[in-house]
Amino acid sequence: MIVRSYRFLDLETPVGLMTDWITPVNHFFVRNHMFEPAKIDVAAWKVTITGEVEKPVTLSLADLAKIPVHSVTNTLECAGNGRSLQAPRVPGIQWGKGAVGNARFSGPSLKTLLEKAGLKETAKHVQFRGLDQVPGKVPPFIRSIPIEKALDGDTLIATHMNGAPIPAHHGYPARAITPGWVGAASCKWLTEITVLDKPAEGNFMNPGYRFPNTPGKPGEPIKPEDTHPLTALTVKSLIAAPGDGAKLKSGAHTIQGVAWAGEADITKVEISTDGGASWNVAQLGKDQAKYAWRLWTFNWKPAKSGDYVILSRATDSQGRVQPDAALWNPSGYLYNAYDQVKIYVQA
Ligand code: MTE
Repeated sequence: MIVRSYRFLDLETPVGLMTDWITPVNHFFVRNHMFEPAKIDVAAWKVTITGEVEKPVTLSLADLAKIPVHSVTNTLECAGNGRSLQAPRVPGIQWGKGAVGNARFSGPSLKTLLEKAGLKETAKHVQFRGLDQVPGKVPPFIRSIPIEKALDGDTLIATHMNGAPIPAHHGYPARAITPGWVGAASCKWLTEITVLDKPAEGNFMNPGYRFPNTPGKPGEPIKPEDTHPLTALTVKSLIAAPGDGAKLKSGAHTIQGVAWAGEADITKVEISTDGGASWNVAQLGKDQAKYAWRLWTFNWKPAKSGDYVILSRATDSQGRVQPDAALWNPSGYLYNAYDQVKIYVQA
């Protein structure tokens, strides 16, 4: 894994490892805004549901285990993934391409828990708080999602990841999974669920995790009132192999990678081996699930030796097409320009 920050652990997956439909847990990126909880006493751990509810509820891990389990295979991507590729450069963790992974998350639907507490008519947003250790003046990682998404049966309080208890780095013993949305909507080490009559406030709702209503010119600031909270991910593909800078022998090669589109489905991935002059349709992998990425492959036999620029471009069921340039924004969110690798084919 590529270490992007030690103080608050941020680990990136090398893009060359993105060859599996399900990302193994030890290759799954980690994004922490503050210190992970030191040690969680599972016997004492509880999650509370309070706020705009008829009857506040407190549940232990054993209580959660008694609630029917729902599983969702979700591509989790950090909103800041690809930030280092933004031009001009923007502040924040300089993620390369690998703050993304695809895992099977299981646990009760959040909807079931909210129904236990009974929602009041005033219930409009659901706020999550985790057990992160908040140092000094750092604002706590508190965010909310709209009630419609909270009541979607696929939004989970996940206790398991890829069939095993959620590992410490990923939110043990339980985390929210808001499928198809930016990773920030999926709070780890969950301990408080608070139903609100309006969106949560605080640094991670505003100015954090917001996108311009109308993108401005690259490098230009945007006023906070001209932004909205990030929700679903956009359409995107990455090339896992060959790697950037690879030297290939002449002959047949497989270009491969992944593509995802948040709440939408991938309908097509196209590959260019001539820097965008012409495009060919790649073959999509057989594994698929709502919110999950698709593997893709393209068989290629370069006609001659020399330098090649390989590009990938995804299209989704909402008609969105991965653009040649991402929409620049001051925090560098949702970078999704065509992916590109430059390689050399030897005679
Ligand atoms: N939840 C808590 N409690 N604290 C955090 O710092 N980071 C969020 C989200 N949930 C975060 C959190 C962000 S920005 C992302 S991208 C995802 O967790 C990353 O999940 P992962 O570390 O399991 O990959």
